[in-house]
Amino acid sequence: MVTNTKLIHHHYSPPKGFKAPQEPTYQASTVIFPSVSAMRSTEWKNKSGYTYGLHGTPTTFTLEERLASIEGALHCQLVPSGLAAIALVNLSLLKSGDEVLLPSNAYGPSTALAQGELARYGISHKVYDPLSLNDLAQKISPQTRLVWLEAPGSVTMEFPDLLALAALCKERGVTSALDNTWGAGIAFNAFDLNGKGLGVDLTIQALTKYASGGGDVLMGCICTRNPALDDHIKLTHMRLGLGVGAADVQAVLRSLPSMALRYKAQDASARFLANALTTQSVVAQVLHPSLKACPGHEHWQACCVRSKLKANGHEEGGYEEGGYEEAGYAGGGFEGNAASIFSVIFKPEFSQAQVDKFCESLQYFKIGYSWGGPMSLVVPYDLETIRPQHSQHTGLARGRLVRLCIGLEDCADLLVDLKRSIQTAFH
Ligand SMILES: Cc1ncc(COP(=O)(O)O)c(C=O)c1O
Repeated sequence: MVTNTKLIHHHYSPPKGFKAPQEPTYQASTVIFPSVSAMRSTEWKNKSGYTYGLHGTPTTFTLEERLASIEGALHCQLVPSGLAAIALVNLSLLKSGDEVLLPSNAYGPSTALAQGELARYGISHKVYDPLSLNDLAQKISPQTRLVWLEAPGSVTMEFPDLLALAALCKERGVTSALDNTWGAGIAFNAFDLNGKGLGVDLTIQALTKYASGGGDVLMGCICTRNPALDDHIKLTHMRLGLGVGAADVQAVLRSLPSMALRYKAQDASARFLANALTTQSVVAQVLHPSLKACPGHEHWQACCVRSKLKANGHEEGGYEEGGYEEAGYAGGGFEGNAASIFSVIFKPEFSQAQVDKFCESLQYFKIGYSWGGPMSLVVPYDLETIRPQHSQHTGLARGRLVRLCIGLEDCADLLVDLKRSIQTAFH
């Protein structure tokens, strides 16, 4: 007879020695110990044992280990979203009376978090110009504990001199944290920007973008080479209870092997389209770090092209610079690496209604947030709202801005779509 007890206490266990390309997914809140003494002595903090689903399973530890390796880090912690990663870094490292510095082109919700929650907890923030080393040098004060970096900045895409900013933070004894969602551990090695081990102290990534690649999972991670920082993060992570779902972790594990190929393909399409849009008469400026007209272009070159240091690729037998093109990879011919996201500023004589019509006329670009997925996306942003200091932002044209995220569609189709919508909306 089937009883509830028999349904729960079954004897089957999978055969040892079974191997498949994909690891099994361990789904657990409760973890079962063989004895009380094992329960008492099992250590979760160094990830050598399992105590409770919230503190990790073989599935989450596998993804963390792989992400740390891609990022060039030694430690990794998963969290439920990219924004949760930003929040966890702040809450782990800052206390009342401390100050955090944010770039003026930071991911909007990161600034909102500083203005809202951090301010309520007595943590102040200042905004610095990411293209001015001098400005950051002047703004670091005795209260500054953390400096956030983005390369490039959100929406306006200015690429900072990352090496110089990280070196300055190190010199002044302030922890540096990079939002490395754009680089994804592929474009450059954030922990070794000069080939001599100088880099940022921490990175976060929204795995929601390239690591997931499907536009269907929210997740984030925090990576570091510094065990003391990792300890702080792990403790706060545990206290806040920031668990991630096993099915989501499995989805990211499944997408990870194709991440570099997707990144490279989407990069090639994005650069093809960004270049093509520079020739359109209605366009005032295309903001893609690979274009000379994009503020910080020379820093992008230094970070993502001239430095052939993609240490992860070299160390682990990954691709060499140009390898994809040599292998006949479609859409190659571009130097260096860049994510598949860029912005277009339309000339100021065009109204918001025309820009909105452009977005709505697109067939393949869907109106929606995020990037790194298979589907191309478009979002209009109001420059005056997102960059109140816009007039001081040197290098940005005046006009109305639209951000484009390039997916995996054929880029010839995307170009036809863009040109057709320009025709419909502006002519
Ligand atoms: C640069 C950057 N960082 C972080 C995030 C936050 O990621 P999530 O949507 O997973 O919270 C985003 C999302 O768009 C982003 O663009």
